[in-house]
Amino acid sequence: MTNSKAGSDTDSDPEATTSTDWANAIGDGGLVVVSNRQPYSHTYDGDDIAVEVHAGGLTAGLDPVMQAVGGTWIAWGDGDADREVVDENDCVPAPPDDPGYTLRRVWLDDDEVDDYYYGFSNQVLWPICHSALTNVTEWERYWEQYQSVNERFVDAVADHADPGDIVWFQDYHFALAPAIARERLDDDTVLMQFWHIPWPAWDTFRGCPHGEAIVEGVLGNDLLVFHVPRYRENFLHCVERVLDDATVDHETGTVRYDGGTTQVTEFPMGVEVDKIARRARSEEADEFWADFTEKYRVADTVALGVDRLDYSKGIPERLRALEQFWERNPEWRGKLTYVEKGSETRSRIDSYQQVQDQIEAGVERVNDRFGTDDWTPVLSFDEYISPTALASLYSHSDLALVSPIRDGMNLVAQEYVAAQVDDDGVLILSDQAGAGSILDAALLVTPQNTGAFTDAIERALTMRGAERRARMQRLREQVSENDLATWTGLNLRAAMALRDGDGSATEPGLPTGGQP
Ligand code: UDP
Ligand code: G6P
Repeated sequence: MTNSKAGSDTDSDPEATTSTDWANAIGDGGLVVVSNRQPYSHTYDGDDIAVEVHAGGLTAGLDPVMQAVGGTWIAWGDGDADREVVDENDCVPAPPDDPGYTLRRVWLDDDEVDDYYYGFSNQVLWPICHSALTNVTEWERYWEQYQSVNERFVDAVADHADPGDIVWFQDYHFALAPAIARERLDDDTVLMQFWHIPWPAWDTFRGCPHGEAIVEGVLGNDLLVFHVPRYRENFLHCVERVLDDATVDHETGTVRYDGGTTQVTEFPMGVEVDKIARRARSEEADEFWADFTEKYRVADTVALGVDRLDYSKGIPERLRALEQFWERNPEWRGKLTYVEKGSETRSRIDSYQQVQDQIEAGVERVNDRFGTDDWTPVLSFDEYISPTALASLYSHSDLALVSPIRDGMNLVAQEYVAAQVDDDGVLILSDQAGAGSILDAALLVTPQNTGAFTDAIERALTMRGAERRARMQRLREQVSENDLATWTGLNLRAAMALRDGDGSATEPGLPTGGQP
């Protein structure tokens, strides 16, 4: 859980998207999005009811899409006041202050939350997909609830989806739902899924319990989309190893299995570049920065990290590189502040608790070692800040440190670039993040290589203005070309092509990685 409070700042800006294009693309059909995490939860705040948003790329990306397109978003109602505000069909308009779509809540009991969410989703599939096999825990007891929650979400889909609609499943929480939905829904309903995290190589996936059922489940989709080509390739290889009867065409990305056809492709997810740039330029952003620097007495040069506090994000590794940097470069003591804007996540799981403890200890270690009466090397905080405040942090930071050990995409890297309206920041980015495949003008590092990571920090801080600007201009072009509107258009147009028969689910031919 995060402590993020949305209050009334839902920050809706439909003009910033190509909403008309998307709505036209869908035509008469509707859109039903299915994700575990909901974009807004309602919680008690004394006698009042507050609105909260959770940190995470999935909801950050899909909420603007739904605001623009409209439709129904089905998700787990995890807020303690969620039931208070829904109608008799468990629906509530969203965003709360400026409704553009319907949020349908699905209720989960404690056993379901333990076994489906904390269990199979986050202690089996998440670590396997991030190639962190040592974090997979004893799994057999989770399986039953994972199956039954997938079925329950399909029950909710059946309440909302009409023939011709697009049902868009999100992520690893719903690996089984597409095949269940394929059995239950009309053939004209398009089933698609975006897999927000990596798909691992076969030698890792073979450690996945019920791997065959997982692969069969996602093959219930007409369209299955990953961020980058290597995840698609990994998936296709896994299909060949797991299912003897499947026919896989690597060139067209087509899988035929059990009478159905799934088109598999990749469209890298992007961010709302123009909106983030507008926030970065706003007066509110300047005010935030003035207050922030006064309150925390930050040094003249600022490095920034923004993360859910997840073991996949490489935060202890980053702190080690910073420690080595200050050790090697004493002249930078007092002159550089590292700001870690974290967000608590999944802390009931031991491996998360451990990494969160390790981060706290790492921050203390660095601050004890180098800090002085008037300088704190690492400022770490996890309170909610508004999207504009976040844009302000991004735009005023000279350097962003984005160092996941493994990450499907990493939207933070793109948000940092989008906020660099003066083209003067430097992005240090892990070569293990999907974003590393797109943002080739970043300084790429392998996070566990502390020496090379430290070199990259030194290089970033001494880089000449002309190189900094040239790199940032190139990065800004890259995030603009791959922005959220582009990603949405690619996904929805590909779905429409399948529904309307030009590149249909039974006729392979949708090109991968380009305009469908
Ligand atoms: N985020 C945030 N506050 C935080 C940490 C993250 O608002 O303290 C947001 C961030 O701006 C981004 C998303 O959460 O939109 C994180 O997406 P990303 O793809 O980087 O990683 P994920 O958390 O989805 O693994
Ligand atoms: C990643 C996952 C999302 C998830 C988000 C936040 O982005 O791909 O599915 O919603 O992390 O994690 P949480 O467990 O809080 O939903």
